[in-house]
Amino acid sequence: MDNILQSIRNFFSSLFISSSSESYNINSLFLQFLILAAVIILIVAGFIFVAAYRYRSKKQPEKPDQVFGNKKLEMTWTILPLMAVTFFFFLAVKTMSEINEPINKRNPDIVIIAHQWWWDMRYPAYNIITANELHIPVGKKLLMRVESADVIHDWWVPELGRKIDAIPGRLNYSWIEADTPGVYIGACSEYCGMQHAWMRIRVIAQTQEDFDKWKMNQEEVPVPLSNEPARTGAILFEKKTCANCHSIEGTSAASHIGPDLTHLRSRETLLTGMLENNEQNLRRWLEDPQKIKEGAHMPNFILNKEELNALVAYLEGLK
Ligand code: CUA
Repeated sequence: MDNILQSIRNFFSSLFISSSSESYNINSLFLQFLILAAVIILIVAGFIFVAAYRYRSKKQPEKPDQVFGNKKLEMTWTILPLMAVTFFFFLAVKTMSEINEPINKRNPDIVIIAHQWWWDMRYPAYNIITANELHIPVGKKLLMRVESADVIHDWWVPELGRKIDAIPGRLNYSWIEADTPGVYIGACSEYCGMQHAWMRIRVIAQTQEDFDKWKMNQEEVPVPLSNEPARTGAILFEKKTCANCHSIEGTSAASHIGPDLTHLRSRETLLTGMLENNEQNLRRWLEDPQKIKEGAHMPNFILNKEELNALVAYLEGLK
């Protein structure tokens, strides 16, 4: 119950927060619509109450006066809404022109490929591939290209800007920008199957200095731990066909069907925002993926205890 209340509170407190000019424009348009809609609903409800009271049934039911046509009234209820609609049409067009800055043909800074149920995230200029947690430097407007590997998904981080669909066979473009450092939570906003609810987005906006540090770490090839279970784990990773779906820089694993694991343990969460990224959760996931995230494409490899220890020890080194 407390959790539900907290979620409702969080929802309303983050409703009008914006951390980019684009989301600021969208939010103010939404607020203007909301105020006008509230005024209209109060007027309509007021008339209903007044009419219900004034024309309530008398002791002796009698036929009320019949009125046919009222030119003045009909003109009023046609012209007033027309003015309101026209006014908001112009406001909406103005907001659209403010946020839809033309996308020049330059290469995108970020490429997002949506999958059931996770996000492949790439930085073509730096040759970095990561998943589910997007790092961006604050105060920079970055061009994002959004694609899909399977069904229709939808990218939405409300505090940073508008929604953009990920559609198979189509390349969609959008800008992403954050004014202040922080973690911005978003989610897939188009129903895409069983684990749609666990297709979260984390955008980590950092100062240029912190972003550069993160970038440098991502560009490096991680050195796996050289202790015993970890070494066996590295061999198991290829033998147990993990490499058929995942990639790890510096090894022969180079498939992008599943998330890139090169710097797996440098992320804050596992399974697209579902679990905290720690050794215990990693172990639980490898033990029985379908129990944790039903429907996910990760099969159960039915690992024995030694194999599990070895794989976890190996992945622990990928920071
Ligand atoms: Cu992806 Cu909903």
